[in-house]
Amino acid sequence: MTSSKQIHIGLSVAPTWLMNDAWRRADSDIENVFSTGFFVDIAKRAEKAKIDFLFRPDTLFMKPDMIAGSPGFSSIDPTILLTALAEHTSHIGLVTTASTTFYPPYIVARQIQSLNIVSQGRVGWNIVTSLDGNENFGISEMPSSEDRYRQAAEFTDVVHKLWASYPSDAIIADRESGTYGTPDALTQIDHHGEFYDVAGPLNTPAFGNGKVPLFQAGASPAGRDFAASVAHAIFAATPDPEVARELRSDLRQRAASKGRDPDDIRILPGLNMYLAPTREEARDIFAQTHARMDPRRMIAKIKELIALDLTDHPMDARVTADMLPAADTVVRSKTHGDLVRRLIERAQPTVKDLLTRPEVMGSSHWIVVGTPADAVDEIVAWAEINAGDGIIALPNGSHQSVDLFLDQVVPRLQELGLFRTEYSGSTLSDHLGVK
Ligand SMILES: Cc1cc2nc3c(=O)[nH]c(=O)nc-3n(C[C@H](O)[C@H](O)[C@H](O)COP(=O)(O)O)c2cc1C
Repeated sequence: MTSSKQIHIGLSVAPTWLMNDAWRRADSDIENVFSTGFFVDIAKRAEKAKIDFLFRPDTLFMKPDMIAGSPGFSSIDPTILLTALAEHTSHIGLVTTASTTFYPPYIVARQIQSLNIVSQGRVGWNIVTSLDGNENFGISEMPSSEDRYRQAAEFTDVVHKLWASYPSDAIIADRESGTYGTPDALTQIDHHGEFYDVAGPLNTPAFGNGKVPLFQAGASPAGRDFAASVAHAIFAATPDPEVARELRSDLRQRAASKGRDPDDIRILPGLNMYLAPTREEARDIFAQTHARMDPRRMIAKIKELIALDLTDHPMDARVTADMLPAADTVVRSKTHGDLVRRLIERAQPTVKDLLTRPEVMGSSHWIVVGTPADAVDEIVAWAEINAGDGIIALPNGSHQSVDLFLDQVVPRLQELGLFRTEYSGSTLSDHLGVK
C-alpha cells in the first residue's frame, strides 16, 4: 500500500521508556536521566528520521511516595531541556508544556518566544490547565475544569497579544542614522480581564511573525471548546479508534462552527509502544514492566478516576453500568474518567480485566505490544479510517522501543508513503502545515 495522506509524528521525551519498572533494566541509563546528554542522541536520531517534533509534558508537583519505586513525576523544566536540545538540532520541532493555571502569562509568552528565537521558529506550546499542584501556587483548591478553561482562554489571549506587541520588524538597527527600532511599532496591550491585568508590551521581540503552534489535551466539553478555538494539535487520550474518530469529528465540527478551517486542527493520539523483534519478547517486556503493579493501587486509581470504590468486589465480578456514580460527579479529569465510564458501559469487564486496561493502567492511550510490523499495521489501520492525523509516540518498556520505533517503524511508514522522507521547511509550523 502507498498513501497520498501523510501523518504527523511527535516523539515524547517524557521519557516514557523508563516508566514503571523499565528503569531497572541494565541498559536504561537511569543514572543520566537528569542530564541533557540522555536526550541529545535521541533528539538527533528523531531529527534524522524527520519526526515533526519532540514533545515534553510537565507537572508542577511531587508526591514523595512516588519515587519509592520509579522516577514518578520527577522532572527538569521542559523549556530549559528543550532549549538545550535546540542547540544540538536544526529542524525538529520542540513542543514544551506550560500551565495556564499556575504560571503568569507574561513569563510564558516570554519563555516560549525566547525558545522560538533560540530554535529559529521550532517551538510549540502544549497548553495544560493541570490536574494537581495548586498547593505550590497558593491556590487552596483546584478550580473546576470549566473555570480552568475560562482562565486558559484569557491566558492564551494575553499571550497572543504579547507576542504581537513587539513585532520583529520593529527592529531596524541602522548604524548610520543611529535608529535601533521604531517605538510606535510596539503596542501597550493594556489587557484587563477576569483573571489578568497586563500592560505590555513584551520585552522579547517576536521571531518571524511570532506565531507559535498550540497544542492541548483535555477532552471534556470545556476542553474541546477551548481546543477548537485556539489549538493546532490535540494530544489525544484515545484507547481505541472509535474514541479517536469521535473526538476528531467533534473537534473539526467545533472548529468549523468557530469559523476555523477544520484541517487546521490535528488530532494526534498518544501511542504507547512496547516493541521487540518478536511478539513473545514484547509481551515479556510488558509483563516485566508491570510486574510490581499493585492491584490496591489500581483500585485507588479507579476511585480517583470515576469515584467508584471496588475495594470489596471480587476480582472476577463484573463491573456494570448501573454501578457507576452519576455522570456529573466531580472527578480529577473528565477526559480520563469518561474513558473508563465508556469502557464499563460498553464491555462490563471483570474487576481483574479493568485493572489491566490502558484506561486505568496507563494514561488512557492506545497501546501496541508487539513487533515493529504490528505497530506499523496499527498506525496504517487508524490512518485509513481517519482515527487521527498522526501520533505522539510514547515508546515503553525499554530503550529498545525507542530504537525500533526510529529505526524500523518510521522507515516503513516512509516506504508506505505515509510519512515524509525530508523536511520541507525548518519551522514547526512548516512541519505541521500551519498556515
Ligand atoms: C492526554 C492528556 C495529557 C495531559 N498532559 C498534561 C501535562 O503534561 N501536564 C498537566 O499539567 N496536565 C496535563 N493534562 C491535564 C489537562 O491539561 C487538563 O487539565 C485536564 O485533562 C482537565 O481537563 P478535562 O476536564 O478537559 O480533561 C493532560 C490531559 C490529557 C487528557
